[in-house]
Amino acid sequence: MNRRTLTSIVAVAMVAVVALTTAGCNSAECKKASENRKIERLLSKMTLEEKIGMLHANRMFSSTGVARLGIPDVWYADGPHGVRYESVDNGWTSLNWENDACTNMPALSALAATWNRELALQCGEVIGAESKARGKHVQLAPGVNITRSVLNGRTWEYFSEDPYITAELAVPYIQGVQSKGVAACVKHFALNSQAIDQYWISSQTDERSLREIYLPAFDAAINRAGAMALMPAYNKIDGLWCSENKYMIDTLLRGEWGFDGVVVSDWNGIHNTVSTATTGTDVEMGTAIKENGLYAFHNYYFSNPLLEKVKDGTVSEEYVDAKVRNILRMLLRLDAIGGKPYDTLGMGAKLATPQHTAVARKIAEESIVLLKNDNNVLPLNPQQYKKVAVIGVNANTKFSLGGGSPKVKAKYEVTVLEGLRNRLGDDVEINFAPGYKLLNRQFVPAKHHFTNEFDRDFPELAAEAVEVAKEAELVIFVGGLSHEHGMDCEGYDRPNMKLPYRQDELIAKVKKANPNTVVVLMAGSPVEMGEWYDTTDAVLQCSFLGTEGGNALARVLYGDVNPSGKLANTWSVRLEDMPDIKFGEYPGNGKEVHFNEGLLVGYRYFDTYDVKPMFEFGYGLSYTTFAYSDLEIAPVWNGSEEEFEVAFTITNTGDREGSEAAQIYVHQNESSVMRPEKELKGFEKVTLAAGESKRVQTTLSRRALQWWNAEKDCWIDEAGKFTLLVGASSRDIRLTGEFELVK
Ligand code: GLC
Repeated sequence: MNRRTLTSIVAVAMVAVVALTTAGCNSAECKKASENRKIERLLSKMTLEEKIGMLHANRMFSSTGVARLGIPDVWYADGPHGVRYESVDNGWTSLNWENDACTNMPALSALAATWNRELALQCGEVIGAESKARGKHVQLAPGVNITRSVLNGRTWEYFSEDPYITAELAVPYIQGVQSKGVAACVKHFALNSQAIDQYWISSQTDERSLREIYLPAFDAAINRAGAMALMPAYNKIDGLWCSENKYMIDTLLRGEWGFDGVVVSDWNGIHNTVSTATTGTDVEMGTAIKENGLYAFHNYYFSNPLLEKVKDGTVSEEYVDAKVRNILRMLLRLDAIGGKPYDTLGMGAKLATPQHTAVARKIAEESIVLLKNDNNVLPLNPQQYKKVAVIGVNANTKFSLGGGSPKVKAKYEVTVLEGLRNRLGDDVEINFAPGYKLLNRQFVPAKHHFTNEFDRDFPELAAEAVEVAKEAELVIFVGGLSHEHGMDCEGYDRPNMKLPYRQDELIAKVKKANPNTVVVLMAGSPVEMGEWYDTTDAVLQCSFLGTEGGNALARVLYGDVNPSGKLANTWSVRLEDMPDIKFGEYPGNGKEVHFNEGLLVGYRYFDTYDVKPMFEFGYGLSYTTFAYSDLEIAPVWNGSEEEFEVAFTITNTGDREGSEAAQIYVHQNESSVMRPEKELKGFEKVTLAAGESKRVQTTLSRRALQWWNAEKDCWIDEAGKFTLLVGASSRDIRLTGEFELVK
């Protein structure tokens, strides 16, 4: 072999060695080792006081950094529907900046009604981009608590009664937020299902219901989406506040799930020093410890009191170091250490951009649920009715700044009235009458048990509304709930499921004056239908639709958009039919609330006990119709395979384009334990032109058949027959197929 050949072989070998070595530096373990070295290097330079400082707030929405080491203060912002306005350092009051107004995205209850994973991703991307633009590190969202009680004031802020759709939409939402360099903070961990007594009540459920209903969305958020932060709930579990609950935080979250992100308390969610400091909660925010009326951050449980406990040996410094490591790890993953201070001057141009508000409108449009459309009254034809009455104060109300912590100072918010005027222009005369008022009374959070504060009307306003309706060719009644205390608002539960301010009577009066009435219910949680429903041809539901809400609703009413929303919560005929009322305890005895209904939350109860709801989970109509055919599943699922193929065809059998959220439920024909009649384990949303057919192909994971065996402390499935149900809703089943799991 000549020298040239030998030289080139050696050269190639050297390149290979370098490549391999370099490649090794891109490996996960190499990255992790590098990350840990950086963490340890920073930690070793920090004083105990600096480390303790990082564990608690230094303002209402920031925790302390270590400037000399390039570690920034960590900035947090609410919430799931947009980036909350800048507030004063020592309180909640707005600073009234000129350039912090953002996009107000539709509520998560609206996002859930879209059954659209791609829109969930886009929603997260918008919120992540605007949070980044506002200089935030952590966006305190999404809330993934399951709707156990429809009276929970935060129902509107969460996704659903079902853990599968909650997880399926929370994952892309979180991925969207974090793709923009902001940590998502999944909340409230866990079993926070009511406002009444929430700060001290202990939520009690069995392990199986915890695992199958209340944890899956958190599991998916952490283990599929890689959420970088998590917020414990206000309530207790098994008598321990969630922020100091070793089973939940240490055994389950940190141990079983391996969560290495930051656990940040809810605001005022920490209640002592030692038992919380020796649990895996890292950062204390919002504790209501004050001096001279101001938040005394230096006296927070994780501040001077913790410093003393470490110095006197009660709390090992190792606990402090572990918390600081979690915070440093998150900041390193956000590339937030060592960077230059954030420049807020340019941020205004990055907020509520046309691209962002277009996403807001798309979500709003796809979230609107057509509940009834007899005689095809909808879509409306602008040429047909030249004089339209819009009745209902909700049509002329801006909701962005309401609802509690999810409030957003929106750059703009199009009301329903404005949306209709935008859509109809000068061709149609629109007259508005509120019909009733929102009193917006203020009550003490979580202590006030509402009874009949909303059972009143406004005779003069009602009379005016009747007159306006009488003069019109068409009436669009926009009713529903609001963000008042005691309606769809954090901190309070609703007193009942009724429409407030005697709207049922008002709708009846308006319809008597003009039978040509369409009803829109703007409600983030289920309401009871009044007698007016049976004689009303067209009824739509929507949650709080945010910045572009009015335009979205107008476009659906007038047919520019074909509604495709489907309910993500069961709407029972009456409150008394709800399982938490029937079986469980709601709101509990002030100390404990037992989830006696267990797994039977929402449709799991209604379908297992065959109780007919007003509108079932997954229900929603369209301006077109769809047929389902040709279900194809293997007759046998060999236990060694992790996925199960499902295929079926959907055809648009109507005369206009439309989208359909097809749902896949699983029923275990025979099981050794009680299992709900059916459980949602898949869904696909397809858009079809008139007459078009599409083959839908998807897979079920093995988990789709499993239930949590509390004795064995693991997920199990049992060989035997299962039935697969494909439907347009949980009760409108179009295709079924049986298969056998063999092991
Ligand atoms: C609130 C909420 C939480 C929110 C936090 C900051 O009380 O429970 O969801 O992120 O405090 O506003």
